[in-house]
Amino acid sequence: MDYKVMSSTVEQTREWGKQLGARLRGGDVVTLIGDLGAGKTAFAQGVGQALDVNGPMTSPTFTLIHEYVAQLTGTRVRLIHMDLYRLQRPEEVEVIGVEDAFVEDAVCLIEWPEIAEDYLPEDRLEVEIIGSGEQSREIIFRVKDLAWERRLKDMT
Ligand SMILES: Nc1ncnc2c1ncn2[C@@H]1O[C@H](COP(=O)(O)OP(=O)(O)OP(=O)(O)O)[C@@H](O)[C@H]1O
Ligand SMILES: [Mg+2]
Repeated sequence: MDYKVMSSTVEQTREWGKQLGARLRGGDVVTLIGDLGAGKTAFAQGVGQALDVNGPMTSPTFTLIHEYVAQLTGTRVRLIHMDLYRLQRPEEVEVIGVEDAFVEDAVCLIEWPEIAEDYLPEDRLEVEIIGSGEQSREIIFRVKDLAWERRLKDMT
């Protein structure tokens, strides 16, 4: 089942990220799908706000992985933000340690996850952002299981 919401500004996209962030738990993996400039990083920043991250969240375009100290209902977790756009081959996913982020004390957000498809956990949540430039965005939460459906049903 898909939940679709609209966002007409970057602030609104961040706010939807915040709404999702408030519903996340340790061990969650969220993939962020969408074109260049769709708003994936903006959405991730909203998640970071909800998780009270230490410091500003910047795009991991060149560094591939940024890690922050975050809080989930008072418990310290790591927020791991990846951008896999620059990877060329799926094997590089192992080299940079993507799977190390799929642990209970971390929440993991992945922009450009396509190349890592074979390594991603089944129970991940997919968020797709459609639109770019000054257009408004459609944000789609692709919910594939009942557990996520329960967790997100009061969000839209
Ligand atoms: N409704 C909107 N939601 C999100 N961003 C918007 C919106 N309207 C305009 N923008 C602009 O679009 C850009 C989104 O940039 P952002 O870095 O978040 O994209 P991205 O999907 O992470 O791109 P990349 O694939 O390069 O990492 C920003 O410059 C932002 O101001
Ligand atoms: Mg980005």
